[in-house]
Amino acid sequence: MSEPVRVENLTVNYAVRTGLLRSRSVRAVDGADLTLAKGEILGLVGESGCGKSTLGRAIVGHARPTDGRVLLDGLPTPKRRPPGMRRRVQMIYQDPGSSLDPRRTVFQTLAEPLRAHRAVPADQVGPRVRELLGMVGLGEEHLRVRPRELSGGQRQRVAIARALAVEPDVLVADEAVAALDASVAGAVLNLLRELRERLGLTVLFISHDLATVRGLCDRVAVMYLGAIVEEGPVADVFANPGHPYTRVLLDAVPSRDRRRPGGPPLGEPPSPLHLPSGCRFHPRCPAAEERCRTTAPPEVRRGGRRAVCHLASEAVSWAHEGP
Ligand SMILES: Nc1ncnc2c1ncn2[C@@H]1O[C@H](COP(=O)(O)OP(=O)(O)OP(=O)(O)O)[C@@H](O)[C@H]1O
Ligand code: SF4
Ligand SMILES: [Mg+2]
Repeated sequence: MSEPVRVENLTVNYAVRTGLLRSRSVRAVDGADLTLAKGEILGLVGESGCGKSTLGRAIVGHARPTDGRVLLDGLPTPKRRPPGMRRRVQMIYQDPGSSLDPRRTVFQTLAEPLRAHRAVPADQVGPRVRELLGMVGLGEEHLRVRPRELSGGQRQRVAIARALAVEPDVLVADEAVAALDASVAGAVLNLLRELRERLGLTVLFISHDLATVRGLCDRVAVMYLGAIVEEGPVADVFANPGHPYTRVLLDAVPSRDRRRPGGPPLGEPPSPLHLPSGCRFHPRCPAAEERCRTTAPPEVRRGGRRAVCHLASEAVSWAHEGP
C-alpha cells in the first residue's frame, strides 16, 4: 500500500525562556510514529497542548524535527524542501487570522500559490480562483476584500481554499471547521470526502470534536503529552478503547442523555517540562497500578490497532485479531 506520509520516532523540542538568561526545551512531540495510507482520513485527537499542531507542522515542514524523521512517499524529507515537495503537502492552520497576509486581498491570496506553483495556465488563474471560492461557499463579492474585513469563519474558508488551490496530495487540517457554523462546516467536510474520493486526497484531521472525527475519519490516533498512545479504526477504537486516556476523552463528551453527564474532570495535564516517570498518564489514570509509576508500558499491536498501556492486552477484546 502506498504511504504518502510516514512519521518515524518524531521528537520536536521548543526552546522556552524560564528566566532572564535561562531557557529550557519543551518536548512538544516525543517519539511519535504515524503512517497515513493514500486516500485515508486519519483523525488526531487529544487535549489542548498535547502536540497535535506541532506534529502537523512537522509533516508540512514548518516545525523542524529534533529527532526522528518525516517521509513523503517513502522518501526522507530534506531540511529545505523543494517547491514540488512543498506543494504536495498543505496545511489549514488552526488560527487563520495569523496565517493570512493582512495586506493581500482574497484574490491575491488565492492567485499567489496558483502562480508560484504554475498550477494552471496564466489565463486560467482568475477562473480557478472563482471556482475555489465557490467550493468554500464564498463569492465574487469577497474577491477584493482583505482578511480584516472578513469574519473568522470566512477567513477560515479562504485558508481552506488556499490550501486546496494547488491540489495537494496530503492535507493537514488543524481544527479546520471548528470556527465554522454547522452548515458551512458540513459543506467543508463533504468537500474533503469528495476530494478523497475524486483525487485520492490523504488527510490528517486534527480536532477536539470526537463526533466529527467519528463521522469523517477512517482511523484515529490519540495523543497524550507528545506521544501517540492509541491508534486504530475509528469505529473500533471509540467502541472499545484500548487505552484509559481514550476512555476518559470519550467519557468527557457530554451525553445528550441528561442522566449521564460527562465523566469526572481530569484536572490539568502535567507540564511537558516535567514528564512523569513510568507511564506518562499515570498521575491521572483511573486504572493506574504500582508498575505504572516506574515502568514505561509496552506498545501492544494487533490487527491494525495499537495501544501503549500495561493493561492493553487484557482491556481490549481486539476487534480483528491478527498479527
Ligand atoms: N512556538 C512555540 N514555542 C514554544 N512552545 C511551544 C510553541 N508551540 C507550541 N509550544 C508548546 O508545545 C506544546 C504542544 O503545543 P501544540 O500547539 O502542538 O499543542 P496542540 O495539541 O495543538 O494544542 P491545542 O489543542 O490547544 O491546539 C505545548 O506545551 C505548547 O505550549
Ligand atoms: S500503563 Fe498504567 S497508568 Fe498508563 S494508561 Fe495504562 S493503566 Fe493507566
Ligand atoms: Mg493545536
